[in-house]
Amino acid sequence: MNYRRWAEELVELGQEMTEKRTLAELLSSILNGLRRLTGSDAGTIYRMTEEEGEDYLIFEAAQNDSVDFSPKQGVRVDVGSGSLAGYVAETGEVLNIEDAYKESTSLPCEVNREFDKKFNYRTKSILVVPLKNRVGRVRGVLQLINKKAEPDCLADETEILPYPESEARLVLAAASQAALALERATLERQVQEMLEGLIATLVSGIERRDKVTSGHSQRLAEYAVKTAEVIHQLDEGRWEEVEFEDEEITALHYAALTHDIGKLAVPEEILLKDNRLSDECMSALEYRLAYLESINEIEDMQQLYEQVREANRAHHLSEELQDKIKQLAEITVELPSGETQQLLTAEEYDSLLAEKGTLTAEEWEQMREHPMATYEILQQVNWTEGLEEVPWLASLHHEKLNGEGYPRGLKGEEIPLRARILAAVDIYEALTATDRPYKKPLSDDRAQKILQEEAAAGAIDRDVVEVFFDHVVGDSEGLTEND
Ligand SMILES: [Fe+2]
Ligand SMILES: [Fe+2]
Repeated sequence: MNYRRWAEELVELGQEMTEKRTLAELLSSILNGLRRLTGSDAGTIYRMTEEEGEDYLIFEAAQNDSVDFSPKQGVRVDVGSGSLAGYVAETGEVLNIEDAYKESTSLPCEVNREFDKKFNYRTKSILVVPLKNRVGRVRGVLQLINKKAEPDCLADETEILPYPESEARLVLAAASQAALALERATLERQVQEMLEGLIATLVSGIERRDKVTSGHSQRLAEYAVKTAEVIHQLDEGRWEEVEFEDEEITALHYAALTHDIGKLAVPEEILLKDNRLSDECMSALEYRLAYLESINEIEDMQQLYEQVREANRAHHLSEELQDKIKQLAEITVELPSGETQQLLTAEEYDSLLAEKGTLTAEEWEQMREHPMATYEILQQVNWTEGLEEVPWLASLHHEKLNGEGYPRGLKGEEIPLRARILAAVDIYEALTATDRPYKKPLSDDRAQKILQEEAAAGAIDRDVVEVFFDHVVGDSEGLTEND
């Protein structure tokens, strides 16, 4: 055995731990390194995990030089004497088996022969070691199979040797690197889960207040991530150079889920407003109209009621209705007390004539503050590395390329691509959502026209709109139905 090679390989593994990005990549390279050193034909790594208080092993990586197979991820193995890995996970012992079939009766557990049968393979020597963390807790199991006399040959072309005890000890030492990686990944996963729990709570906070838009953020997140993934894969024109790292996509996902969190700071009567006047205002106005009728000052009362009610509900006021409201505003009523009053108060007048939706200019101002509030709320979260830009991205979902957006009025290049994706799919979701009681959803064709018009007006990114409608809309795979 070449100790120098071992030392070098261990140093290399340590080095790789700081470089490999995902747990799967890291475990594969550890497995590969140990197979190389021991001349093993095959090997497997399992990770210990827990569900409802019960420990079990999950299969993480498998390699085999002689059999071409694609390992199934996520297969579950019970801890205990049902299998070699389960036994080692339970006891923390090393199992060093010279010939699995010959020794099968003297082993503390059964050797699974399914793989051998299926692939016409012969498992002979096996070395199974526990992956223990610093306090000796088993975090996983590593299994090496068939040590070859000539490592470059296939298993059936060369002699299969037993693992010498000295080698088993070295594998055990090297395996602690894998244990460390598993430990670190478990911690990272816990932090991630905590973060996701926190986000889910925040999002359900807004959506519980505003049932009308429930599911909006979730759908937006699906549209946004899908669009970014398509852009990442596309290799033509403007997208040739554009690539997203995994963290960048994750940041977009979180930004989309949380983009409207700032609506928590918008008063409920504004958030939920779907009439221009509150019920109280409307009955006071109707009372005044009835009074006018009773003193015979208005002829076609029924029509007038209808028009006021229509204006109250309308998201967009026709010119005819606007004129009608202006005429009404000129009428003064002499009350029984003798004092005179305008038929419409100044607030009623403003509300009924508000340009956009059913919110007055002042209410819109408050509504338009929500992206800034989103930013401030999200800034308080301690985002993990790579996700620090979530608050910034989320707060840009109403920015427009021509500088007419809010809250910052950023322009063109100042708005990053992922924020442009958010802006486009936010409009699409709002137009096509099926669960808004006061508004009919638009068809995809109508929505596409509107988004294209917005793009032509320089508000949103034309190419993003194109990718979205060409590759994401209508592609039901990966997108859930509106719920
Ligand atoms: Fe928003
Ligand atoms: Fe939104």
